[in-house]
Amino acid sequence: TFLSAGMLATAMLLGACGKQETATSTAPAASGPAATASAPAKVYVVGTDAAYAPFESQNEKGEIVGFDIDVVSAIAAKAGVQVKFVNTPWEGIFNALQQGDRDVLVSAITITDERKQTMDFTAPYFDAVQLIAVKQGSKVAKFDDLKPLKVGVQTGTTGDEVVTKLLGKNSAAIKRFESTPLALKELESGGVDAVVADNGVVIHYVANNAGAGFKTVSDPSFTPEQYGIAVRKGNTAVLEMINQGLAGIRADGTYDRIYAKYFGSAPAAANAAP
Ligand code: ARG
Repeated sequence: TFLSAGMLATAMLLGACGKQETATSTAPAASGPAATASAPAKVYVVGTDAAYAPFESQNEKGEIVGFDIDVVSAIAAKAGVQVKFVNTPWEGIFNALQQGDRDVLVSAITITDERKQTMDFTAPYFDAVQLIAVKQGSKVAKFDDLKPLKVGVQTGTTGDEVVTKLLGKNSAAIKRFESTPLALKELESGGVDAVVADNGVVIHYVANNAGAGFKTVSDPSFTPEQYGIAVRKGNTAVLEMINQGLAGIRADGTYDRIYAKYFGSAPAAANAAP
Protein backbone atom coordinates (compact mmCIF):
# COMPACT_ATOMS: atom_id res chain seq x y z
CA THR A 1 0.00 0.00 0.00
CA PHE A 2 1.08 3.58 -0.60
CA LEU A 3 1.55 6.06 2.17
CA SER A 4 1.73 9.74 1.43
CA ALA A 5 4.79 11.64 2.60
CA GLY A 6 2.62 13.22 5.28
CA MET A 7 1.35 9.87 6.55
CA LEU A 8 4.89 8.51 6.64
CA ALA A 9 6.07 11.49 8.59
CA THR A 10 3.25 10.90 11.07
CA ALA A 11 3.99 7.18 11.23
CA MET A 12 7.66 7.81 11.92
CA LEU A 13 6.87 10.41 14.54
CA LEU A 14 4.56 7.97 16.34
CA GLY A 15 7.16 5.26 15.96
CA ALA A 16 9.71 7.45 17.65
CA CYS A 17 7.47 7.51 20.72
CA GLY A 18 7.85 3.77 20.88
CA LYS A 19 4.08 3.18 20.92
CA GLN A 20 3.45 2.48 17.26
CA GLU A 21 5.77 -0.40 16.36
CA THR A 22 3.41 -1.56 13.63
CA ALA A 23 3.40 1.80 11.94
CA THR A 24 7.19 1.94 11.73
CA SER A 25 7.54 -1.68 10.74
CA THR A 26 5.12 -1.41 7.80
CA ALA A 27 7.37 1.10 6.05
CA PRO A 28 10.83 0.72 7.53
CA ALA A 29 12.78 1.65 4.43
CA ALA A 30 10.50 4.42 3.30
CA SER A 31 12.19 7.67 4.11
CA GLY A 32 13.66 10.54 2.12
CA PRO A 33 13.61 9.95 -1.65
CA ALA A 34 11.89 6.57 -1.33
CA ALA A 35 8.95 8.19 0.40
CA THR A 36 8.66 10.74 -2.40
CA ALA A 37 8.81 8.05 -5.05
CA SER A 38 6.03 5.98 -3.50
CA ALA A 39 3.65 8.91 -3.01
CA PRO A 40 0.90 8.94 -5.65
CA ALA A 41 1.75 11.37 -8.46
CA LYS A 42 -0.20 14.59 -8.47
CA VAL A 43 -2.72 14.89 -11.26
CA TYR A 44 -3.24 18.49 -12.33
CA VAL A 45 -6.91 19.23 -12.88
CA VAL A 46 -7.36 21.36 -15.99
CA GLY A 47 -10.65 23.19 -16.48
CA THR A 48 -11.95 23.95 -19.95
CA ASP A 49 -15.31 25.05 -21.37
CA ALA A 50 -15.52 22.29 -23.96
CA ALA A 51 -17.97 23.98 -26.32
CA TYR A 52 -15.44 25.92 -28.29
CA ALA A 53 -14.23 23.93 -31.27
CA PRO A 54 -11.58 23.67 -32.56
CA PHE A 55 -9.93 24.69 -29.26
CA GLU A 56 -11.95 22.45 -26.94
CA SER A 57 -15.03 20.36 -27.54
CA GLN A 58 -16.48 16.95 -26.73
CA ASN A 59 -16.39 14.23 -29.36
CA GLU A 60 -19.04 11.52 -29.88
CA LYS A 61 -17.45 9.49 -27.11
CA GLY A 62 -17.69 12.40 -24.70
CA GLU A 63 -13.93 12.88 -24.65
CA ILE A 64 -12.60 16.42 -24.46
CA VAL A 65 -10.51 17.13 -27.55
CA GLY A 66 -9.02 20.08 -29.42
CA PHE A 67 -6.05 22.33 -30.01
CA ASP A 68 -5.86 23.52 -26.39
CA ILE A 69 -6.09 19.93 -25.14
CA ASP A 70 -3.23 18.80 -27.40
CA VAL A 71 -1.10 21.79 -26.39
CA VAL A 72 -1.55 21.23 -22.66
CA SER A 73 -1.11 17.46 -23.01
CA ALA A 74 2.16 18.04 -24.86
CA ILE A 75 3.31 20.51 -22.21
CA ALA A 76 2.45 17.99 -19.48
CA ALA A 77 4.40 15.27 -21.30
CA LYS A 78 7.41 17.61 -21.50
CA ALA A 79 7.13 18.44 -17.82
CA GLY A 80 6.58 14.79 -16.91
CA VAL A 81 3.33 15.44 -15.05
CA GLN A 82 -0.19 14.08 -15.37
CA VAL A 83 -3.21 16.18 -16.30
CA LYS A 84 -6.92 15.53 -16.29
CA PHE A 85 -9.30 17.74 -18.30
CA VAL A 86 -12.61 18.62 -16.71
CA ASN A 87 -15.44 20.27 -18.63
CA THR A 88 -16.17 23.50 -16.80
CA PRO A 89 -18.85 26.01 -17.82
CA TRP A 90 -17.32 29.34 -18.85
CA GLU A 91 -19.43 31.31 -16.40
CA GLY A 92 -17.92 29.56 -13.39
CA ILE A 93 -14.49 28.81 -14.79
CA PHE A 94 -12.46 31.58 -13.12
CA ASN A 95 -14.16 30.91 -9.81
CA ALA A 96 -13.37 27.20 -10.07
CA LEU A 97 -9.68 28.10 -10.41
CA GLN A 98 -9.74 30.50 -7.51
CA GLN A 99 -11.57 28.04 -5.23
CA GLY A 100 -8.96 25.38 -5.96
CA ASP A 101 -11.35 23.07 -7.82
CA ARG A 102 -9.09 23.42 -10.87
CA ASP A 103 -5.31 23.82 -10.92
CA VAL A 104 -5.04 25.15 -14.45
CA LEU A 105 -7.41 26.62 -17.04
CA VAL A 106 -7.02 26.26 -20.78
CA SER A 107 -10.07 27.56 -22.60
CA ALA A 108 -9.02 29.92 -25.39
CA ILE A 109 -8.76 32.50 -22.61
CA THR A 110 -7.73 35.95 -23.74
CA ILE A 111 -5.13 37.54 -21.49
CA THR A 112 -6.63 40.83 -20.28
CA ASP A 113 -5.45 43.37 -17.70
CA GLU A 114 -8.63 42.81 -15.71
CA ARG A 115 -8.17 39.03 -15.55
CA LYS A 116 -4.49 39.47 -14.63
CA GLN A 117 -5.66 41.00 -11.35
CA THR A 118 -7.16 37.71 -10.21
CA MET A 119 -5.06 35.02 -11.94
CA ASP A 120 -1.67 34.50 -13.53
CA PHE A 121 -1.17 33.74 -17.20
CA THR A 122 1.55 31.88 -19.04
CA ALA A 123 3.26 33.37 -22.05
CA PRO A 124 0.75 33.76 -24.91
CA TYR A 125 0.24 30.59 -26.95
CA PHE A 126 -2.25 31.76 -29.60
CA ASP A 127 -3.24 34.98 -31.39
CA ALA A 128 -6.88 35.77 -31.96
CA VAL A 129 -9.23 38.60 -32.83
CA GLN A 130 -12.99 39.12 -32.73
CA LEU A 131 -14.96 38.23 -35.86
CA ILE A 132 -18.59 38.93 -36.77
CA ALA A 133 -20.89 36.18 -38.03
CA VAL A 134 -24.02 37.17 -39.97
CA LYS A 135 -26.45 35.52 -42.38
CA GLN A 136 -25.24 35.46 -45.98
CA GLY A 137 -27.70 38.13 -47.16
CA SER A 138 -26.81 40.57 -44.37
CA LYS A 139 -25.77 44.13 -45.19
CA VAL A 140 -23.41 44.30 -42.23
CA ALA A 141 -19.98 45.30 -43.52
CA LYS A 142 -18.30 46.58 -40.36
CA PHE A 143 -18.66 46.44 -36.58
CA ASP A 144 -20.41 49.80 -36.40
CA ASP A 145 -23.22 48.45 -38.58
CA LEU A 146 -24.32 46.34 -35.60
CA LYS A 147 -25.54 49.45 -33.73
CA PRO A 148 -29.23 49.13 -34.64
CA LEU A 149 -29.18 45.31 -34.55
CA LYS A 150 -29.61 42.44 -32.09
CA VAL A 151 -26.27 40.85 -31.29
CA GLY A 152 -25.51 37.51 -29.66
CA VAL A 153 -22.43 36.88 -27.53
CA GLN A 154 -21.19 34.36 -24.97
CA THR A 155 -21.57 35.89 -21.50
CA GLY A 156 -18.39 37.25 -20.01
CA THR A 157 -16.19 36.79 -23.06
CA THR A 158 -14.14 39.43 -24.81
CA GLY A 159 -16.83 39.33 -27.51
CA ASP A 160 -19.34 40.35 -24.83
CA GLU A 161 -16.97 43.15 -23.79
CA VAL A 162 -16.62 44.71 -27.24
CA VAL A 163 -20.34 44.47 -28.01
CA THR A 164 -21.20 45.91 -24.59
CA LYS A 165 -18.90 48.84 -25.37
CA LEU A 166 -20.60 49.41 -28.73
CA LEU A 167 -24.22 49.04 -27.61
CA GLY A 168 -24.13 49.98 -23.93
CA LYS A 169 -24.18 47.88 -20.78
CA ASN A 170 -27.93 47.65 -20.42
CA SER A 171 -28.78 47.45 -24.08
CA ALA A 172 -31.71 45.12 -24.72
CA ALA A 173 -30.15 44.46 -28.13
CA ILE A 174 -27.42 42.30 -26.60
CA LYS A 175 -28.40 38.67 -26.13
CA ARG A 176 -26.03 36.80 -23.88
CA PHE A 177 -25.62 33.03 -24.08
CA GLU A 178 -23.98 30.44 -21.91
CA SER A 179 -21.95 29.14 -24.85
CA THR A 180 -20.85 30.42 -28.25
CA PRO A 181 -22.56 27.57 -30.18
CA LEU A 182 -25.88 28.57 -28.54
CA ALA A 183 -25.40 32.14 -29.75
CA LEU A 184 -24.66 30.86 -33.27
CA LYS A 185 -27.78 28.65 -33.17
CA GLU A 186 -29.80 31.73 -32.32
CA LEU A 187 -28.33 33.51 -35.34
CA GLU A 188 -29.40 30.57 -37.47
CA SER A 189 -32.98 30.75 -36.17
CA GLY A 190 -33.11 34.52 -36.61
CA GLY A 191 -33.26 35.49 -32.92
CA VAL A 192 -30.21 37.70 -33.36
CA ASP A 193 -28.79 39.49 -36.41
CA ALA A 194 -25.12 38.87 -35.67
CA VAL A 195 -22.76 37.07 -33.31
CA VAL A 196 -19.36 38.39 -32.22
CA ALA A 197 -16.83 35.82 -31.03
CA ASP A 198 -13.21 34.69 -31.46
CA ASN A 199 -12.19 34.31 -35.11
CA GLY A 200 -11.00 30.70 -34.85
CA VAL A 201 -14.31 29.50 -33.47
CA VAL A 202 -16.47 31.50 -35.86
CA ILE A 203 -14.45 30.33 -38.88
CA HIS A 204 -14.64 26.71 -37.71
CA TYR A 205 -18.40 26.92 -37.16
CA VAL A 206 -19.12 28.56 -40.52
CA ALA A 207 -16.96 25.97 -42.32
CA ASN A 208 -18.66 23.05 -40.58
CA ASN A 209 -22.24 24.30 -40.74
CA ALA A 210 -22.69 25.27 -44.37
CA GLY A 211 -26.43 24.73 -43.95
CA ALA A 212 -26.61 27.65 -41.52
CA GLY A 213 -25.84 30.06 -44.39
CA PHE A 214 -23.45 32.31 -42.49
CA LYS A 215 -20.66 34.58 -43.63
CA THR A 216 -18.00 36.36 -41.61
CA VAL A 217 -17.22 40.08 -41.40
CA SER A 218 -13.91 41.29 -40.01
CA ASP A 219 -13.21 44.77 -38.72
CA PRO A 220 -9.77 46.34 -38.27
CA SER A 221 -10.97 48.18 -35.16
CA PHE A 222 -10.92 44.98 -33.09
CA THR A 223 -7.89 44.84 -30.78
CA PRO A 224 -5.59 41.84 -31.26
CA GLU A 225 -5.99 39.26 -28.47
CA GLN A 226 -3.71 36.55 -27.14
CA TYR A 227 -4.64 33.34 -25.37
CA GLY A 228 -2.85 32.28 -22.22
CA ILE A 229 -3.07 29.32 -19.86
CA ALA A 230 -4.21 30.44 -16.40
CA VAL A 231 -3.12 29.37 -12.92
CA ARG A 232 -4.02 30.69 -9.49
CA LYS A 233 -2.42 34.02 -8.66
CA GLY A 234 0.99 33.45 -7.12
CA ASN A 235 1.24 29.79 -8.18
CA THR A 236 4.66 30.41 -9.71
CA ALA A 237 5.77 26.77 -9.52
CA VAL A 238 3.03 25.59 -11.86
CA LEU A 239 3.28 28.73 -13.98
CA GLU A 240 6.99 28.18 -14.57
CA MET A 241 6.50 24.50 -15.27
CA ILE A 242 3.93 25.32 -17.96
CA ASN A 243 5.99 28.15 -19.43
CA GLN A 244 9.01 25.88 -19.71
CA GLY A 245 6.94 23.14 -21.28
CA LEU A 246 5.44 25.61 -23.73
CA ALA A 247 8.89 26.86 -24.72
CA GLY A 248 9.95 23.23 -25.10
CA ILE A 249 7.12 22.26 -27.44
CA ARG A 250 7.68 25.41 -29.47
CA ALA A 251 11.39 24.62 -29.78
CA ASP A 252 11.02 20.96 -30.77
CA GLY A 253 8.32 21.41 -33.42
CA THR A 254 5.47 19.86 -31.40
CA TYR A 255 3.55 23.14 -31.24
CA ASP A 256 3.80 23.58 -35.02
CA ARG A 257 2.58 20.02 -35.60
CA ILE A 258 -0.44 20.58 -33.35
CA TYR A 259 -1.11 23.91 -35.03
CA ALA A 260 -1.01 22.33 -38.48
CA LYS A 261 -3.35 19.52 -37.33
CA TYR A 262 -6.07 22.03 -36.47
CA PHE A 263 -5.40 24.98 -38.72
CA GLY A 264 -4.00 23.23 -41.75
CA SER A 265 -0.72 25.08 -42.12
CA ALA A 266 2.28 26.40 -40.29
CA PRO A 267 1.45 29.03 -37.70
CA ALA A 268 1.07 32.57 -38.93
CA ALA A 269 4.00 34.78 -38.00
CA ALA A 270 1.98 36.05 -35.05
CA ASN A 271 1.73 32.54 -33.58
CA ALA A 272 5.31 31.54 -34.25
CA ALA A 273 7.73 31.18 -31.38
CA PRO A 274 8.96 34.57 -30.19
N1 ARG B 1 -11.23 34.39 -25.91
C1 ARG B 1 -12.49 34.77 -25.34
C2 ARG B 1 -12.30 35.25 -23.92
O1 ARG B 1 -11.31 34.95 -23.33
C3 ARG B 1 -13.52 33.67 -25.38
C4 ARG B 1 -13.11 32.39 -24.74
C5 ARG B 1 -14.23 31.40 -24.58
N2 ARG B 1 -13.72 30.09 -24.37
C6 ARG B 1 -14.47 28.99 -24.26
N3 ARG B 1 -13.90 27.84 -24.17
N4 ARG B 1 -15.76 29.10 -24.25
O2 ARG B 1 -13.13 35.91 -23.37
